[in-house]
Amino acid sequence: MIAAIIAAAGSGERFGAHIPKALIQLGDKTLLGHAITNLAPVVDQIIVTAPAGYEAQIQEIAGEGITVVTGGATRSQSVRRGLAAVDTTAEYVLVHDAARSLASTDLARAVIAALVAGDVAVIPGLPEVDTVKEIDGSGFVISTPDRSSLRKVQTPQGFSYSVLKAAHASGADATDDAVLVADAGHKVRIIAGEERALKITIPADLSQAMTFIGDAQTFRTGVGIDAHAFGEGRELWLAGLLWPGEIGVDGHSDGDVAAHAICDALFAATGTGDLGSNFGTSRPEYSGASGSQLLTETLKIITEAGFSISNVSVQIIGNRPRIGGRRAEAIGAISAALGGAPVSILATTTDGMGLTGEGKGIAAIASALVFK
Ligand code: CTP
Ligand code: MG
Repeated sequence: MIAAIIAAAGSGERFGAHIPKALIQLGDKTLLGHAITNLAPVVDQIIVTAPAGYEAQIQEIAGEGITVVTGGATRSQSVRRGLAAVDTTAEYVLVHDAARSLASTDLARAVIAALVAGDVAVIPGLPEVDTVKEIDGSGFVISTPDRSSLRKVQTPQGFSYSVLKAAHASGADATDDAVLVADAGHKVRIIAGEERALKITIPADLSQAMTFIGDAQTFRTGVGIDAHAFGEGRELWLAGLLWPGEIGVDGHSDGDVAAHAICDALFAATGTGDLGSNFGTSRPEYSGASGSQLLTETLKIITEAGFSISNVSVQIIGNRPRIGGRRAEAIGAISAALGGAPVSILATTTDGMGLTGEGKGIAAIASALVFK
């Protein structure tokens, strides 16, 4: 039986928000929510220490099956209150900071593995990259410890339940639990920590934490193709622009092959159907819609499915019109229709071969990268 105490009773003074730090939002969850999600798969009991007055709110985030206790004035006092709620059959206890929200499940697993292998105290740590000085009260250097033997320690820290309980019986205060266990005469093992287990202390730490969440995003790509034959008496709409003096293309829409190819690439990337299923004949309200309108509708559909656009790229294939001179304008039109997404537009001929090479029409191939 493995228990975990998540210390979340701090006020987050250095962060400077008007709510306790554990309740701050990071992506789709609060800091505490992340910490719980990451520990839950490897422990049997979770106890959260809450700031006085926030117990109900913390219980709501934690959900059923998680014990919430009121924290104390210091972190060590909070941990002691948590310890009092640990199931007495527990063999191991992990003590974790809600502020180290993104410490991974694998890190907790590694801590537990070292406990199971026989260590009574196991803590993650990263090598120190800066030279560290010990100073006296007047600001003068006393010593320079050898950097290679220093570690910056993190949580979750894992202990044998009986050893941790005995160490806390002293009632002492310390910035981590390993100090108390070491003071009680036990050996503390260091295992490799993680950059993502950073302690969120000030607002800048939140942006760094976001980069780790970004890693967890799912990216998907899709390709879309469209072609239309030239049609006499039609004006040409291409890449969201009107091209005066050019021959237009046949079709019941404005025939903007670049816009249509991008729509299909986005539908393909997000698995939300295609142009036909979304705007086809069964949806008469879209007949005659412009390429730009369809792009904006597509953006709405993929946004509702939870996706954002990373970028789209389209290559127009045809002898004419010459795209180069209006490339920036076309990129602006497509990007505006897609809510400001990054867009690239390329163009090529096919050396006189095939449908577009023979001058019969225009085609476009698009790709899209989206994420969730
Ligand atoms: N903590 C706690 N009880 C306390 C103080 C801190 O449970 N009396 C918890 C915090 O919620 C945090 C962890 O211990 O998850 C590490 O503390 P720290 O990062 O210092 O958080 P705060 O004390 O909230 O921040 P600050 O020191 O800036 O006020
Ligand atoms: Mg603190």
